[in-house]
This record gives sequence, structure tokens and C-alpha cells, in this order.
Amino acid sequence: DIPVITIDGPAASGKGTIAARVARSLGFHYLDSGALYRLATFAALKHGISLDDAAALAAQAANLDPVFDGEKILFEGEDVSTAIRSEAVSSATSQVAAIPEVREALFNLQRRFARAPGLVADGRDMGTVIFPKAELKVFLTATARVRAERRYKQLVERGEAADLDALTRDLEARDKRDRERETAPLRAAIDAYILDTSEMDIESVEKKVLEWWQS
Ligand code: CDP
Repeated sequence: DIPVITIDGPAASGKGTIAARVARSLGFHYLDSGALYRLATFAALKHGISLDDAAALAAQAANLDPVFDGEKILFEGEDVSTAIRSEAVSSATSQVAAIPEVREALFNLQRRFARAPGLVADGRDMGTVIFPKAELKVFLTATARVRAERRYKQLVERGEAADLDALTRDLEARDKRDRERETAPLRAAIDAYILDTSEMDIESVEKKVLEWWQS
């Protein structure tokens, strides 16, 4: 069996950063499952598919053929790495991700990322649905305010406009949708280590995950 580490948690809990760093230090592959949901949503918006049309959304998700080039994601010949992280796409993504047919359509694509020597996968349901047999499962949390501040810093660093109160409200709305949806709701797997990162920096979170992996 291919070793898999899953890192799940709410929006802006630091999953992506931690997962990418852990993957790098172990020499493992990395799956950013949120990027696939974001890309499916971006593609739907680009092609004028209605966000209410579950069948069309699922058909399109099943045919997604993303190209990962280092940190970049290419789609239909275009670098969409920044576009898929806009607030508009983030918000639409949590609607699209609530559709069971879309989740089903992305199931096999996600499973195919588990290749030797190993995989670190981040998302909402990596430990519960996609890789239920993962050797190490981690669930990261942090208060909504801390998460909004982290997202705010990211946006400012990218030179984008940002409003801390609006970000906090958006994160809370997105978390609520992710938690309350019927298919693959956001929750920790029963065998996951839960870590509140509100007061921790990236280095200490990475260290903790690597300690769990080595123990
Ligand atoms: O970086 P951030 O946590 O804000 O977002 P993300 O991990 O890229 O995920 C964006 C959205 O995709 C989430 O709000 C979820 O609705 C959805 N998602 C999901 O449903 N299942 C996953 N495994 C990953 C993301």
C-alpha cells in the first residue's frame, strides 16, 4: 500500500501550506484537492454552466484534465493558479462542492494521486472519504478570526483588496456550508489527530505532523 497522510480542516486553517511542506520534506507527492473543486467551478463559470445544473457540472468535472506544473495549475492552456483563488470562485466553489454528483466525478481523479513513494493530501474529506485507510490523519483548526487574518495577509501580499470583517463573514459562511452539507461534510475522521493552530506558526505545525509521522 502507498503511504498516505491526510490533512483536513476548514478554510484558511493552513492545510495547504503544511501539506505542501510535509510532502516536500518526505519527498512525497502532494494533492491539493481544493484546487480540483476550485478548477471545476472556474471551468463552469468560464463555460457558462449554471451552478444549479448538477448533471452538467458533474459531466464537466469528470472530464477535467488539469496540468500541475510545480506550483502552477494550467487549464485549457492558461495559468489559472491565481484566478481559481479569487473570493468569487471560493464562494461559488463551496456551492459546487456540495453537489454529490460533482464529488463522485472527482473521486477517481483524487485517488490516482496516491503513487510511490507516498502522498500528502489536503482538503475536507481526505481522511473520511477519499483515503479512509491513510496511515496518518491530521485535522487542523483555528479560530475564524485567526483564519481570516491569515487569508487577509495572503491577499495583501498578492496586492489584492481585502476587508477583514468581510473575509471573516465569508469564511464563516463557507465553513457552515462545508460542515452542514449532506455529502462528505467537513469533519475530523475518528482516527485523526486534531491540532488547533491558532497560536502556532507554520514551522511548529509542520514539526508536529512530522513527529506524528515518525512515531
Ligand atoms: O484554501 P481554502 O481552505 O480556503 O480552500 P480549499 O481547500 O481550496 O477549498 C475550497 C472549497 O472547496 C472549500 O470551501 C470546500 O467547499 C471545497 N472542498 C471540498 O468540498 N472538498 C475538498 N476535499 C476540498 C475542498
